[in-house]
Amino acid sequence: MGVYTAIGKGDYERQETQVLYQVPCDGERIAEWKISIGGSSFMSRKDELYQLTEHIPDPVIRAFTVYMLSQAPWHFWSQPSSAGKYHPKDEHGFEGLLLHTIRVVGVGSVICESAQGRLDSNIILPACFLHDICRYGTGVVHRGKDSEYSVPEHPELASTLIRRLGNGFGSFVDDIADAVETHAGRWGKTAPRNETEWAVHYADCIAANYHVWGAAL
Ligand SMILES: [Fe+2]
Repeated sequence: MGVYTAIGKGDYERQETQVLYQVPCDGERIAEWKISIGGSSFMSRKDELYQLTEHIPDPVIRAFTVYMLSQAPWHFWSQPSSAGKYHPKDEHGFEGLLLHTIRVVGVGSVICESAQGRLDSNIILPACFLHDICRYGTGVVHRGKDSEYSVPEHPELASTLIRRLGNGFGSFVDDIADAVETHAGRWGKTAPRNETEWAVHYADCIAANYHVWGAAL
């Protein structure tokens, strides 16, 4: 994969933090992403999600996840996680999908911590971040419209986007894409096939269950 540099670190304490990632890809090309976090004591959900990427141990995979988040369709940043009977009620409004994703990453982190090294957090956590980035389609006209409803094939759409934009980054891209593709379990086209993929599916199911967040939700 070559040499990489990860400069800077997000930090709750500082007023403004910039994170600069440089990762070699496609041979000579250096991909570079600069993400600004913070600027005030209030942290938006978007900032919170980016901040959580620091739980991904490998700096290259972390940088790739940050890059993929920056490429997520606009729906991902504002739409509800679900319109009706599924998911906790506080995810039914503005930025609901973002809140759901933060929760899936949180549950995924707990699963990885509990496994004490027996599960690969470098694949599970990025898949938790990215599993629903195409929940409302790809951000371009899809099935004749820019979808305002979640689309059942969103696992396949997201995994295709990850493989396409991640071409040349390394074999980890396929592992992440596989886990995203199978995250819907029995509700999707392809069931999880290994413990990494099952862990992402469990994290999604647990985070989406309103019983977990209390009766008020
Ligand atoms: Fe989900």
